[in-house]
Amino acid sequence: MAEVKLIFFFFFFSPITLHLTILTLLSSIILSASLRVLPISTPSTKNYNIFDTSLYGKLQLNNGLAQTPQMGWNSWNFFACNINETLIKETADALVDIGLAKLGYTYVNIDDCWSALSRSSKGELVPDPKNFPSGIKALADYIHGKGLKLGIYSDAGVFTCEVRPGSLYHENADASLFASWGVDYLKYDNCFNLGIEPQERYPPMREALNDTGRRIFYSLCEWGVNDPALWAGKVGNSWRTTEDINDSWASMTTIADLNDKWAAYAGPGGWNDPDMLEVGNGGMTYQEYRAHFSIWALMKAPLLVGCDVRNMTAETFELLSNEEVIAVNQDHLGVQGRKVSVEGPGKCNQVWAGPLSGKRLVVALWNRCPETVIITAKWEALGLESRSSVSVRDLWKHEDIPGNAVSKFSVEVESHDCKMYIFTPFTVTHSLI
Ligand SMILES: *[C@@H]1O[C@H](CO)[C@@H](O)[C@H](O)[C@H]1NC(C)=O
Ligand SMILES: *[C@@H]1O[C@H](CO)[C@@H](O)[C@H](O)[C@H]1NC(C)=O
Ligand SMILES: *[C@@H]1O[C@H](CO)[C@@H](O)[C@H](O)[C@H]1NC(C)=O
Ligand SMILES: *[C@@H]1O[C@H](CO)[C@@H](O)[C@H](O)[C@H]1NC(C)=O
Repeated sequence: MAEVKLIFFFFFFSPITLHLTILTLLSSIILSASLRVLPISTPSTKNYNIFDTSLYGKLQLNNGLAQTPQMGWNSWNFFACNINETLIKETADALVDIGLAKLGYTYVNIDDCWSALSRSSKGELVPDPKNFPSGIKALADYIHGKGLKLGIYSDAGVFTCEVRPGSLYHENADASLFASWGVDYLKYDNCFNLGIEPQERYPPMREALNDTGRRIFYSLCEWGVNDPALWAGKVGNSWRTTEDINDSWASMTTIADLNDKWAAYAGPGGWNDPDMLEVGNGGMTYQEYRAHFSIWALMKAPLLVGCDVRNMTAETFELLSNEEVIAVNQDHLGVQGRKVSVEGPGKCNQVWAGPLSGKRLVVALWNRCPETVIITAKWEALGLESRSSVSVRDLWKHEDIPGNAVSKFSVEVESHDCKMYIFTPFTVTHSLI
């Protein structure tokens, strides 16, 4: 075949053109050999686990949702029970008006306390007549009208945590009601559960939601008590891995470390949920919130804003609206990043990393201590070959670092802060040039 082509070339091209053509061909062959991109999916050390997704997706819920982690807002962290339909509408307005909706924050999720204290005489859940006088259907219509989605809350027990009626043994009726209202998302809590195992209490609601025929995101919230990563992939679209977050550095770091353990179980369709964001609620510093948001994005956690979006500071908005960090969270490869190295006295110097689409890596350098430190990401810890060269993009400064990094990358990180980068590896084999 090659001979035939050559004859063909001789026939049509002058010797000079042919000469150039062969040169071009040769150089492209050499180039493609020399610019060989290292297969970063092959870990360089034996028991290296950064790319391990072997435990993910054995039994998928498969309702078509959660191809990337859910994004939006939830009422609990800031408002707790002080909610009403005006607040929910104003929040939806604000998400659109300030531009968070177009960045992906589309679920508007009402947490506990939307319901009246008891069911109707027909046994139906009833929206609290004082705080939700127009009902949930009207609210869903309003929110859909803004291009957003409505989430609601119930409990796999006899009461919710704030002692409203729970959905245990009412799964079908409640799921039908939610679907008839146009609900798009259900957070399903774990209070007053009669001591029945979550593996028994959560699947009936999955079936009930499925039977409605409406696609409803199913968010399990059994607080990580029965290691849901081990079984919840076939039940829900996300599962809480820990107890509730609170607006403190101690809580946020504890939860990040606990959620890390389950990285290999997360993937498109089902995500580990280390709980909603506290960014903007005042209990942590700017640096701590930046770390919180960076690590949640890297861990493929749901990005559910938990502050009052109608009244955010410029700093809070800057953190939550970082499109480059959001893109890490929403990357279609869908592999949860994890803690890959811990160094220094007090285990201060932490490197968290994970693979992204396009053979890229996200790398976060996180200072867990009160003093400024220099943190080094070594290629070995990232599963990169030591001589491979990477270009580095700083996701918080929004700039490329000049020059390429080889074998390691070091940077100074302030107390409790987190720097975040995308590494794009490439390697030129010098012997071929
Ligand atoms: C609705 O809730 C918000 C937030 O708690 C509160 O500021 C507002 O006063 C409430 N409005 C009504 C009408 O209850
Ligand atoms: C119901 O479950 C089936 C089987 O997993 C799935 O194919 C379908 O998409 C689900 N439907 C809804 C509405 O969730
Ligand atoms: C917040 O969480 C931390 C860590 O789990 C815990 O020690 C602390 O008591 C919690 N604070 C509140 C106010 O619940
Ligand atoms: C807005 O937030 C600030 C703190 O950032 C607070 O002092 C103020 O009371 C808030 N305003 C409203 C209307 O909630």
